[in-house]
Amino acid sequence: MPQPVIQLHELRKHFGPLRAVDGLSLEVEAGECFGFLGPNGAGKTTTIGMMLGLLWPTAGRVLLFGQEVTPLRTAVLRQVGALVGAPGFYPYLSGRENLRLLARLHPEVGRGRVDEVLEQVGLEAAAARRKVKTYSTGMKQRLGLAAALLQRPQLLILDEPTTGLDPIGMAEMRQLLRGLADQGVTVFLSSHLLHEVQQICDRVAILRQGRLVALGPVADLLAGHRDLEEVFMKTVGSR
Ligand SMILES: Nc1ncnc2c1ncn2[C@@H]1O[C@H](COP(=O)(O)OP(=O)(O)O)[C@@H](O)[C@H]1O
Ligand SMILES: [Mg+2]
Repeated sequence: MPQPVIQLHELRKHFGPLRAVDGLSLEVEAGECFGFLGPNGAGKTTTIGMMLGLLWPTAGRVLLFGQEVTPLRTAVLRQVGALVGAPGFYPYLSGRENLRLLARLHPEVGRGRVDEVLEQVGLEAAAARRKVKTYSTGMKQRLGLAAALLQRPQLLILDEPTTGLDPIGMAEMRQLLRGLADQGVTVFLSSHLLHEVQQICDRVAILRQGRLVALGPVADLLAGHRDLEEVFMKTVGSR
């Protein structure tokens, strides 16, 4: 058996009495597009924060490529591209200039790579020359994904990446993420957009109050249901 790319073991994060993540275990294999679903407050962002070494787990472990991640052990994150929340860029520099600065921090990233990723995320040359402060949320999101792709990561961890995109932008993002997964990149994607996830993900987990309420291939979860929306309402809708 090949090593899973992501392993979460009994992961917990408590904020005082609140169990934001309440004993979460799951594994994601190489090349999977994995959807991490759940209503607002389910614990998606908290889980991703622990996966990226931004938060200490209350208990449990995160392993990426078989290596443990904590806020003090982040070496493996060099192989990981991430997009969490609104990405921060220098507003008075252009999109391309921002990426060039980032590329300079990584000697293994060649100069040509900046234009490659800009094209990949659909930021056209004219847009890439504009100052980031003039960007729409959707454009910033694309630039954030471009930044995440610079180092050709084998794992992408994305928290609600289609936030702020219009329907065309969403369809493009979907195509892009599916294409990356088809090239062997593992994609871990949180979303509350079931329709989206249903179209691009191989497997999904549904989280509710920090616990898994469903986990499996999209096709299996869909069996006997109209769509993922119906599965979601049945598993998390009843309170
Ligand atoms: N730093 C924090 N302090 C206290 N509570 C938090 C903190 N971060 C998140 N929470 C709470 O943890 C729960 C899970 O939040 P979050 O992981 O952001 O959910 P999701 O991303 O699924 O919407 C929510 O009830 C949220 O209010
Ligand atoms: Mg969130």
